[in-house]
Amino acid sequence: MKIKGTTKITGVFGYPVTHTLSPIFQNSAFEYLGIDFVYLPFEVKPENLKTAVEAIKVFNWIGVNVTIPHKKEIIKYIDELDETSKILEVVNTIHNLDGKLKGYTTDGDGFIRSLIEDGKFDPENKNIFIIGAGGSAYAICGSLISKKVNSIFITNRTFENAVKLKEHIQRKLNFQKVEIIEFEKRNEKKIWESIDILINTTSVGMKEGDTLLIDKKNIEKVKFVYDIVYNRKTELLKIAENLKIPHLDGLSMLVYQGAISFEIWTGKKAPVDIMKKSLQEFSKFKY
Ligand code: ATR
Repeated sequence: MKIKGTTKITGVFGYPVTHTLSPIFQNSAFEYLGIDFVYLPFEVKPENLKTAVEAIKVFNWIGVNVTIPHKKEIIKYIDELDETSKILEVVNTIHNLDGKLKGYTTDGDGFIRSLIEDGKFDPENKNIFIIGAGGSAYAICGSLISKKVNSIFITNRTFENAVKLKEHIQRKLNFQKVEIIEFEKRNEKKIWESIDILINTTSVGMKEGDTLLIDKKNIEKVKFVYDIVYNRKTELLKIAENLKIPHLDGLSMLVYQGAISFEIWTGKKAPVDIMKKSLQEFSKFKY
């Protein structure tokens, strides 16, 4: 990649930001398609967020991704939001259109594209079991509902957070077939007879020795396992692999949410395979 006088800047705002994998696959994609863009990590402390957003306009960058801890806070500095960002009240992608900043959130659509294109699994009419009720669960539920799933079961360590997610789904997304499973009862047999997709949206599994939240006898009943953890092969994914259940890890979602950002900035179809390959080459991670 050659940085020239014409090179346009994109990147990611985060704090911390050193762990980000986005520069690897975004720059590979720009290079592969011969697009004169560069993607950089920007360490932005919370107290500097407003100034950092102004920099997008001042330096006329193409746009940025936004990650922890800025996804909610950044909304107040953005000129326009897409529908999903309005509903979820988070933004992970900004596009600078002649000094006007438009915010998007691509996590949910990234998840769905990964499930359909990478996992070859169509969620329409399927019954979903989701572990977790944090930001990722909101995005994933929204995109699954847009693909006409049949029903959603939610379990979460903190019951009140599951209640908030359920209310969000019923009121804001107008989807009624959603049920909370008490965390202590999550492994009860009768629920699992009908589940098609099991999705872990929590951070459980990121560390070696983390507990397996769903019993093996229940995992073996499902048709697809998705774990959004991407730093290691989790126990959940190891079991899915052993049982020969189709499965995906969070690297797939990471690449696809980035692919959608890429498409917003460039107007071109993202070379997803190149992006995945660059991550494989960069790290020991396996697809
Ligand atoms: P994200 O935006 O990535 O979804 P988050 O909003 O912090 O992150 O959500 C983290 C989710 O993981 C929550 O559902 C959280 O459960 P609580 O609502 O009880 O906090 C869940 N989680 C985190 N650590 C957990 C653990 N050790 N056991 C079970 N659930 C856990």
